[in-house]
Parts: sequence; C-alpha cells; structure tokens
Amino acid sequence: MGWIPSEIEEYCINHSTRPGEAARELQKYTKESVHGSNMLIGEMEGSVLKFLITLGRVKNVLELGTYTGYSALVMAEAIPHDGKVITIDINPKTSEIAQEYWAKSPHGKKIKQILKPGPEALKEIHETFDLVFIDADKNNYPNYLTWALDHLSPQGIIVTDNTLWSGKVLQSGVDAQTDSIRKHNDQAAALEGYIKTLLPIRDGMFLIQKG
Ligand SMILES: C[S@@+](CC[C@H](N)C(=O)[O-])C[C@H]1O[C@@H](n2cnc3c(N)ncnc32)[C@H](O)[C@@H]1O
Repeated sequence: MGWIPSEIEEYCINHSTRPGEAARELQKYTKESVHGSNMLIGEMEGSVLKFLITLGRVKNVLELGTYTGYSALVMAEAIPHDGKVITIDINPKTSEIAQEYWAKSPHGKKIKQILKPGPEALKEIHETFDLVFIDADKNNYPNYLTWALDHLSPQGIIVTDNTLWSGKVLQSGVDAQTDSIRKHNDQAAALEGYIKTLLPIRDGMFLIQKG
C-alpha cells in the first residue's frame, strides 16, 4: 500500500541510508522472482529500522516474519558485530532464500533463524531484546505484543508493521485479521509508562518504547 506519491518515496529513499549490496540484491531477486514480494518492508522502512537501532544502541533483535530475510539483513547491518537478530518464520522455501543471501553478507552471521510457528517458537525464548519487530501472522498481533512487552530490555523498542492495514483499521468487523490489528493498536495505545507513535510510513509502523 502506498500512502505517499511514489516519486516522493523514491526521493526520501535516495536521501536516506541505503541497504548493503547483498540486501539490495535480495530485494531485487525477491521482487522479480518470489511470490508475495509486496510483503517486503522495502528501503524506506529499512532505513527507519536502522535509524532506531543506532539511536537506541540496539544489540539484540527478535523478529517475527523472516520471509526472504530482507528486513533481518538490513537490521543486522545496523547492529554491532557482537549483536544478533533472531528471526522466526514457518516457510522453509523463503527461509532457504534468506539463508542464501545472508551468506553473501558480512552481517549475515549475526542472524539466527527459527523455523517454527511464532507462538511455539516464542515459548522457548526466555531472554530480553532491545528491539522486537512484529511482521508476521496478523491474527496473533495482540499475543505477540504481549510477549514483546514481557521480553523487552530497559528502553527497549517494539516496532509493529502493517498497523494501518491499507486503511482497513478505520473500521471494525471488516475481517478477523483487521480486528486483530485493531486490537493490537488499541492495546498499544492504552499502555501506560511507554511512549508510542503510530507512523503512517508505508502500511503503518507502530513504535512503542519503554519510558
Ligand atoms: C510480511 S512477511 C515478513 C517480511 C519480512 N519481515 C521482510 O520485510 O523482509 C510475513 C512472514 O510471516 C510468516 N508467517 C505467517 N504466519 C506465521 C506464523 N504463524 N509463524 C511464523 N511466521 C509466520 C510468513 O511465512 C511470511 O514469510
């Protein structure tokens, strides 16, 4: 979903931090050859994530939704050499593409993938994270937010993607996925002791930080 004219988005991208070579190749390959490439966060969101990671001195990231590994790689580029990105997905085919491209980047070694359904994978993770990026399985957004709040380091950041859902969030009862995203958004908005901003970047990036 595009909210701003494409030439404006292009201009913003051209004046923002660009992804590394392997990530650019991965984006190109995904757009040309992989089903569902509109799921990619794209360069604009990628540069925002990198900015947040640098600003928040983020060392460890938990991502829900690997797809072909683009967002995981872009985030890995911004974290220090001893940092890590754990990313979760259920699709072995797209995960294979991710592994192939991570191996082409010096930052790929910071990424560890868990190939399991999100709720199952999260049950086995007991550490805290400086940034949790929620970008999978819209029906579980409220559960992922609850988990993220319980596993956030001091000053940790939660970023949830697609929180505008092409504008469908304005109405209740559209479908189960929209209602689940609406529930996540209301849950986030009601949090006390956190700073929150729902940015209309691409399909909506909800940023939540412990105050
Ligand atoms: C929007 S894509 C992620 C895009 C990725 N973050 C990027 O920008 O490069 C969503 C991913 O969630 C995965 N997914 C869907 N349901 C899931 C579940 N129950 N558990 C884990 N992953 C799931 C899909 O296989 C898909 O790859």
